[in-house]
Amino acid sequence: MRKLKLPEARKLWEPKTFKPKPSADRRDIPQFPNPTDPEPEKVRLLFNGLAGKYEQFNSVSSLGLDRIWRNSLIRSVGLENLEGKVVLDFGTGTGDLIRNLAQKNQRRDTILIGMDFSKAMIQWAKTNLEKIKRGEKSQIEFLCASGENVPLLSESVDVVMSAFVLRNIRKIMIPVLSELKRVMRPGGKLFFLEMVVPENSVLKFFHRLYLKSILPLVGYSLFKKNWSGSYLSETILNFGKPAQFSQILIELGFEDVCFSTLSGGMAVLHRARKA
Ligand SMILES: C[S@@+](CC[C@H](N)C(=O)[O-])C[C@H]1O[C@@H](n2cnc3c(N)ncnc32)[C@H](O)[C@@H]1O
Repeated sequence: MRKLKLPEARKLWEPKTFKPKPSADRRDIPQFPNPTDPEPEKVRLLFNGLAGKYEQFNSVSSLGLDRIWRNSLIRSVGLENLEGKVVLDFGTGTGDLIRNLAQKNQRRDTILIGMDFSKAMIQWAKTNLEKIKRGEKSQIEFLCASGENVPLLSESVDVVMSAFVLRNIRKIMIPVLSELKRVMRPGGKLFFLEMVVPENSVLKFFHRLYLKSILPLVGYSLFKKNWSGSYLSETILNFGKPAQFSQILIELGFEDVCFSTLSGGMAVLHRARKA
């Protein structure tokens, strides 16, 4: 893979011009983030508004694929590698991924930390945690904090994992990745799951149709005025290619950088290791 200098790699993430549809500017809808250059504060407010029905939305809108993709991430992390390890779930949301990991992990000496900057998401994550067994619960801590300023010691985390967060941190990609790298131990592993546009042209056509027509229907019927307008679909449609994100990881000094696509390329799992 050709190596890019950091400024060059950053250019790959420069936002394209985005023209919001008139409906997205209606007065009764809160101001949603710009999908190609999302302002962190607007992202935080958006997810505060979605928190209550977020898990329901995920499973209905992805027809259960979100769960299959999170399971792939967990398989990649490898339950056999978690003895005495510290795992950080960055952008944990309502805690779906980290609860799933806790339920599968037999070891009680793993420390699982779910971190998110949306207070409402963290509150739901704590409420949802009550639904699982005591032993599984005891492994999990939740932190309300931003990826730009992670309140953890340098070199304290063995595994950083994250699902469906990358598209939301495009504006602050380099500071967040650098901060995550700071808290990782040398040899620590990084796993990022994200939704992308499939390469296959037939699948791409139906994927786009789905994002533009079905997804807004599901979103609006569940969230009403809190629905994010075209934000979700536009962030998926306008996100860079997986290889471009790999190049950024390489430029930041990560090693063993690679990715694999899932479900015909509708999702991608990025992996890397801190040297
Ligand atoms: C699409 S949700 C994904 C939630 C969860 N990971 C899942 O698998 O369902 C993205 C989450 O990332 C969080 N997030 C976005 N930017 C963040 C940042 N800069 N710092 C911390 N959390 C962030 C949002 O608040 C939101 O809960």
